[in-house]
Amino acid sequence: KHYVLLFCDPGIDDAMAIMLAIMHPQIELVGIVTSYGNVTKDQSTVNAEYLLKVAGMSHIPVIPAAFRSFSEFEEVSYPDIHGEAGLGSIMPEHHFPGNRLGFDTIRSILTTYNRQLTIIELGRMTALASALNLYENEFNQVKNVFIMGGAFFVPGNRTPVAEANIYGDSVSARFIFQFLQTTITPLNVTSQAIVTPPLVQRLTSHSTFGSTIQAILSVYINYYQEKQPQLSGPPIHDIVPLLIMANPSLATYVHRDIEVVTTGEATGMTFMDLRPDSPIGQQKIAWTINQKQLLNDYEKAMFSFYAGE
Ligand code: BDR
Ligand code: CA
Repeated sequence: KHYVLLFCDPGIDDAMAIMLAIMHPQIELVGIVTSYGNVTKDQSTVNAEYLLKVAGMSHIPVIPAAFRSFSEFEEVSYPDIHGEAGLGSIMPEHHFPGNRLGFDTIRSILTTYNRQLTIIELGRMTALASALNLYENEFNQVKNVFIMGGAFFVPGNRTPVAEANIYGDSVSARFIFQFLQTTITPLNVTSQAIVTPPLVQRLTSHSTFGSTIQAILSVYINYYQEKQPQLSGPPIHDIVPLLIMANPSLATYVHRDIEVVTTGEATGMTFMDLRPDSPIGQQKIAWTINQKQLLNDYEKAMFSFYAGE
């Protein structure tokens, strides 16, 4: 079992990752930390609570965290990609009798799960950097840290050279890569997590999340159809670190230090030294991925719960 504390900004692909974390037979979701990013902090909090309620899992703690970046002041809403409230056509009500807790809950979770805890970051790293700055000793015990972010030697998606999560808070990203050993899944590999129409159709038959997935994905599918019609469906970036954690053999990796540009036109750009004689570094970067196996694993995890696996 992987005990997972999920930092995120749901957001459509974050929402798909939350549903995967709930369904995955090898994952126990022990908390969700919500921040600004795809939507505002308040909206991402409500959205996480909404998804937990759909699953009957409202006992899982939701910890509202960062509302703004330490770096760029980017516009915090992408209605054309993620829908009005960040969940496609769903407009969740704002009050759930959930388990909303304060930032220091992160410290309690770190100490409770200790060496068994895996952290997965699916958004801007502001809250993660803040937590590391406050709870340095507790972080030393964490088993693994997985991150969706970055783009290496491929175009960015927020600027020509920057991926959205890193661009959104490049200073926090640089801080994290200086002080934490992570496994990172950049756009290079997450852009392979494409849900084709037949897969979407099967997912919409899901007994817990089917109608939610249908309502969530509609806006996102339309956006990608219009902007990138050459793709066979939209990429669900944020499911990739979860799947790689559960099955590391899905990917090949390079081990290097990661540099993040924090000023100027290239802000948010990530790069590493891949010259033949360059030294091994502390970050593990997913470099290639088995797309077929990735999607197989995804579907299997989404449907395995009720098959009693
Ligand atoms: C990442 O940026 C966010 O907008 C998505 O949710 C994903 O985490 C992709 O670049
Ligand atoms: Ca995200």
